[in-house]
Amino acid sequence: MKKLLFVIFLLTLVSTNQLLAQNNSMDNKIKEIIKQLTLKEKLDMCHAQSKFSSKGVARLGIPEIWMSDGPHGVRAEIAWDSWQHAGWTNDSCTAFPALTCLAATFNPKLSYKYGKAIGEEARYRKKDILLGPGVNIYRTPLNGRNFEYMGEDPYLASKMVVPYIHGVQENGVAACVKHYVLNNQEHWRDHINVELSDRALYEIYLPAFKAAVQEGKVWSIMGAYNQVRGQYCCHNELLVNKILKGDWGFDGVLVTDWGATHDTKEAALFGLDIEMGTGTDGLTSSLKNAYDNYFMANPLLKMIQSGEIDESVVDEKVERILRLMFRTNMNSSRPNGIMNSQEHFDVAREIAQEGIVLLKNEANFFPIDPEKVQTIAIIGENATKMMTVGGGSSELKTIHEISPLEGIHKRFKNANILHAMGYASGPSVYGRVIDSKLNADSLKNEALEIASKADIVLFVGGLNKNHHQDCEGDDRKHFSLPFGQDDLISRILKVNKNTAVILISGNAVEMPWVDQVKGIVQTWYLGSETGHAIADVLSGDVNPSGKLPFSFPVKLEDNAAHAFDELSYPGDGTNQEYKEDILVGYRWHDTKKIKPLYAFGFGLSYTSFQIQNVKSNKISYKKEDTIIISCEIKNTGKIKGNEVIQVYVNDVKASVLRPLKELKAFKKVKLNPKETKSITLKIPTKELAFFDDSIMDWKLESGQYKLMIGMSSQDIKKIISVKVK
Ligand code: BGC
Repeated sequence: MKKLLFVIFLLTLVSTNQLLAQNNSMDNKIKEIIKQLTLKEKLDMCHAQSKFSSKGVARLGIPEIWMSDGPHGVRAEIAWDSWQHAGWTNDSCTAFPALTCLAATFNPKLSYKYGKAIGEEARYRKKDILLGPGVNIYRTPLNGRNFEYMGEDPYLASKMVVPYIHGVQENGVAACVKHYVLNNQEHWRDHINVELSDRALYEIYLPAFKAAVQEGKVWSIMGAYNQVRGQYCCHNELLVNKILKGDWGFDGVLVTDWGATHDTKEAALFGLDIEMGTGTDGLTSSLKNAYDNYFMANPLLKMIQSGEIDESVVDEKVERILRLMFRTNMNSSRPNGIMNSQEHFDVAREIAQEGIVLLKNEANFFPIDPEKVQTIAIIGENATKMMTVGGGSSELKTIHEISPLEGIHKRFKNANILHAMGYASGPSVYGRVIDSKLNADSLKNEALEIASKADIVLFVGGLNKNHHQDCEGDDRKHFSLPFGQDDLISRILKVNKNTAVILISGNAVEMPWVDQVKGIVQTWYLGSETGHAIADVLSGDVNPSGKLPFSFPVKLEDNAAHAFDELSYPGDGTNQEYKEDILVGYRWHDTKKIKPLYAFGFGLSYTSFQIQNVKSNKISYKKEDTIIISCEIKNTGKIKGNEVIQVYVNDVKASVLRPLKELKAFKKVKLNPKETKSITLKIPTKELAFFDDSIMDWKLESGQYKLMIGMSSQDIKKIISVKVK
């Protein structure tokens, strides 16, 4: 045994040494290259040469860097110098489910599959940086961009972002985690200055980025548009120089968001590496080459020539850029990539199936038996609306998008399916929504007519990817459903009580009809396989196991960000203060005893589960220990299913305010009918610490902690008390 351990030790040493040697030789090569570059060549590498690329150095064989959005598929090619599509015919992709859906799977293994598949597509399309994933914390249900993020909990977002990065980067494509940081609303995103406490910053908004850097080893990060504490995020001394590159040791490239650079000197000194999308339009301006006027182009050149800034500042940026290139487009052994394979569509479907959340299921309304001959009325614009287009930079040109109506038609062949739009949202053209030309009354009447004839009604509605909906560039204006849907649902209920709602959205919505409908399914935006995955769940071919990655409040004011004045949301136009502090999402609902409509971590199944024999390995822990919780989970129903066991902790007597519950571990378990599995969940004791702003470090207080084990933040089955010394 000892011998074996020694051999393992030697092997680890050899591989560590090999890695060090490789790194040393890469560092040496980088230094050699930098010596050969002119200042102009170096600066050219630090800013865009087109909408989505930056220059290489042709005379030395150093390639250009090509980037693409992200994060749900590889975006269609964009023109060299405008936002128009380039019009290629070979750039249709697999559209994967939105990141809210991925987060709702609570399944890090699926996150890896997602990353690997999208990375393969990016690689095939010759992209070096994939602009995603996004991990801005869900602070308000009005944020137009929540659908691109991973929910309201820093632990969940951290656990889900890391495997995505690994999957992407195995392809020799850099993931670019965005938007660093505090871009938690789209309204005024280009200038709003966020003020918040150090605790909120470190406990809520930074952890997923830190995990991306330290565990995900991500090769690039995108800076956010907004300001934090008076400085723009893309050149923010505290966020970039101190935290990202200093404390966390990030060795990759900080890319701006498009047009998020504002100052040459700050950009040079406070950590920006590549400037993209600055508001010059090259072709139509009278300037010869607009890209030379970027903050990090001629203006920086002049500052270096005048001695105001040292050239070594640029060398450090180029060093990072070349390191990224050795990992991507100068790595000759990276794989070739794959596009639109059946495997990719299968991954998209699997994630969609596992992310769909069943919120309500009165009298087992679902699953609907596909063999039964009956009339089903499908009402709602979202039953047929393409959701991969629109939404801003995450728009996709996909090879196919199965609509909910199509998916249901295919699976429910014996049913008589009637369909009516019911309402119309109107098209969105370049950020403006054009009123629909369709007559609202006749749409409604048509819907009521089919509803009255049907055995069951499936209302397929929610939000869409238009401006002021789930869309980049601004926030939703209302918490309620748009386009008269609430009124329509209540009218439908008058003619047919057998009605359920299929909600397609990336955000929580108000549900005034919640008590009257028989069922509610939250399906997010599911990409290419939307209709298939929805039909899989409605028919019972797949037992739903998604869990909400954010809380659904009853009304908007129940959400923490909206419980204060306008300075909290949306700000006064210049500044914004996160007044709820660390009490974001369920931390707010639980601590303030404001019951959510649907809680973080909640989601029903067609079977039932029981947790038993919950134990911790000890009752008292030291700082360096790991708490190990073991339990048995049993499927007590008649069909197979998955359940997510969640552990929340509470510091019973703390010297500062601490949330009543904080997620610290979870595990998804697959179980056959009547099967029982034993599982363990681990929490390093140090993760019970809070961020102490008086010492600007994490502090673990001794005393009693409660470990709450359950199936959602509101469904705690067992509480264990432990001590920390
Ligand atoms: C978005 C980024 C995106 C970039 C490039 C910006 O408007 O905020 O997320 O990657 O555009 O399309």
